Amino acid sequence: MFGHLTALPADPILSLLATYRIDQNPKKIDLGVGVYKNELGQTTVLDCVKAAEKHRFETEDSKIYIGSAGSEGFNDAMSKLIFGEHEVLAQNRARTISTPGGTGALRVAGEFLSTCKPGATIWVSDPTWANHYGLFTAAGLKVKTYPYYDHDNKSLKFDEMMAALAKVSKDDIVLLHACCHNPSGMDLNNEQWQKVVALTKENGFTPLIDMAYQGFGDGLEEDAYGVRLMAAHVDEMVLCSSCSKNFGLYRERIGACTIIGKDATATSIASTVLLSVVRCNYSMPPAHGAAVVETILGSNELRSQWYGELEIMRNRINDNRTLLVDSLIAQGVTRDFSFIAKQKGMFSFLGITPEQVQQLQDKYSVYMVGSSRMSIAGISTNNVEYLAQSIAKVL
Ligand code: LMR
Repeated sequence: MFGHLTALPADPILSLLATYRIDQNPKKIDLGVGVYKNELGQTTVLDCVKAAEKHRFETEDSKIYIGSAGSEGFNDAMSKLIFGEHEVLAQNRARTISTPGGTGALRVAGEFLSTCKPGATIWVSDPTWANHYGLFTAAGLKVKTYPYYDHDNKSLKFDEMMAALAKVSKDDIVLLHACCHNPSGMDLNNEQWQKVVALTKENGFTPLIDMAYQGFGDGLEEDAYGVRLMAAHVDEMVLCSSCSKNFGLYRERIGACTIIGKDATATSIASTVLLSVVRCNYSMPPAHGAAVVETILGSNELRSQWYGELEIMRNRINDNRTLLVDSLIAQGVTRDFSFIAKQKGMFSFLGITPEQVQQLQDKYSVYMVGSSRMSIAGISTNNVEYLAQSIAKVL
């Protein structure tokens, strides 16, 4: 059955982790996979998470099945976190379910949309998170791209993006990144969101918004601007969110998928299809991460502790952006990297060739994805000088 298979290339993002771990160079720097690191290069468990886990350990009294939608407490808390006091919640037009991470949410969303419209096309930004291609294809959708990031000018190709989306059929789906665009760090501003929402409404295609980094850009509310605006203006949309980054719950695999229908009845019918997709995949989502998030969001004390810890992560990433730009200048680099300080979230493209990326890895043990996408959280005051020196040498 499988003896004839040929090996597939390793995942471009995840394989870096393994290579980095076995590198013996004490100066090695990991700018690969998108995980938050503190100044010491550690990805520790948030204090609010530790407190919620302690509470759960002491109070959990059963491991009985929880159902395909996951915990209703988590689902309600996530809906409020994402949408705020939004009319779609009051109108009962939004249904959120727990999923195994943001990736699980995207896969479930893809299969749900593929059930709604078999063989439909999903338009993703060029570039987008590499795994979007594989998971939407596996879900039965055709994947096409719309222009997004201008590598030469380090800017958004907004006019080209709008021109491409203007031609998208009403039977298609358009994937948008809510904030902290992965991999470019180039986000739509509020005015651009307003234009995209107006075009979505006019054309009638279905928006699918991927919000993996709420709170990592400008703040929890600010980062949800586009999502909330879209939800206020369209009849139908799908939203995928993740608690991997903002709660640091990476390996617990907890995210959420929300569908919004044109009225309460349509949403309720659609949610039976969504739940059937889940039942036929993994039956039910893991419970631990959801319980942790539910506990944090349900307690005033833990919630404000989380806000504080999230703010520290956000500010550190933003500070790292400026730190790298200044350090490159200090190393005598004349090429303009100031765009890095203007972009948002966990990633930016350094803008060097794949050969230069490979040299950084082979000669200096600096790890980033071949496209030169850097995970900015891996920079620190301890390693930035070595990083800037290494970049200067390969330029
Ligand atoms: C990333 O893009 O590095 C993260 O979203 C982790 C992943 O699963 O790829």
